[in-house]
Amino acid sequence: MKKIVIIGGRGNGTVVASIIEDCIDAGQKYKILGFLNDNEKEDINNYPIIGGIQNEDWKKFDEDVYFIYTLSTVKVAFQRHNLLKSLKIPNKRFASIIHPTSTVSKTAELGFGNVLMPYSQLGANAVIGDHTTLMSYSYVGHDDTVGEFCFISAFASTGGRCIIEDGVHLGHKSSMLARLKIGKYSVVGLAAAVTKDVESFHIVAGVPAKKIGEIKID
Ligand SMILES: CC(C)(COP(=O)(O)OP(=O)(O)OC[C@H]1O[C@@H](n2cnc3c(N)ncnc32)[C@H](O)[C@@H]1OP(=O)(O)O)[C@@H](O)C(=O)NCCC(=O)NCCS
Repeated sequence: MKKIVIIGGRGNGTVVASIIEDCIDAGQKYKILGFLNDNEKEDINNYPIIGGIQNEDWKKFDEDVYFIYTLSTVKVAFQRHNLLKSLKIPNKRFASIIHPTSTVSKTAELGFGNVLMPYSQLGANAVIGDHTTLMSYSYVGHDDTVGEFCFISAFASTGGRCIIEDGVHLGHKSSMLARLKIGKYSVVGLAAAVTKDVESFHIVAGVPAKKIGEIKID
């Protein structure tokens, strides 16, 4: 039985809780203890708030308790990723949650703290970094390398041999040609078609995708 504490709250945190519930229903051995959240006091979807985030409450849990970090918001991945790093939670304390309908190639590699949502697919020889999330029906192509803390939204798909650096957000229904690179913390807008490499900290959108802005990091 893996005891899980979700770092976050309503939104992505409750989505992840629901996915863990599906895993439990399918026979996987998990128990959700509650949420770490700095703002909420009331239960979230019947799970208690059992501590804060920035006050290092995670340290009060025994070694057999695992965490999932669900604080991800479009355009502030750099800040959210830095918050995660500042908590200094050892990677081995993060659980990876794989929905029973997700398909993971036997030759793919996962990291720590991944969430693979319903019907997501990870292709042959693809590698995803720690804390990267594949939302429902997303597809990561064969031989892709996806960094840490990336968010691959619902129905997004990538061609083979792509490189997606840390903190990248691929919007709903976006797609990208094979062998492209998306630089760190960049955002691809929903329904975009990426046909060329994207520089770090850029926002691109449209078909074909063009730069429409930059990510602010201060
Ligand atoms: C790309 C995105 C991040 C841009 O957000 P933003 O920086 O706030 O940009 P704005 O909404 O101010 O839009 C700027 C311009 O780009 C256009 N634009 C925004 N998103 C676009 C998209 N996906 N495709 C085409 N054009 C888009 C806007 O129409 C606007 O054009 P205008 O200046 O001619 O009016 C956002 O629109 C988006 O697509 N987010 C991803 C959503 C998603 O995947 N969510 C899943 C999370 S669970």
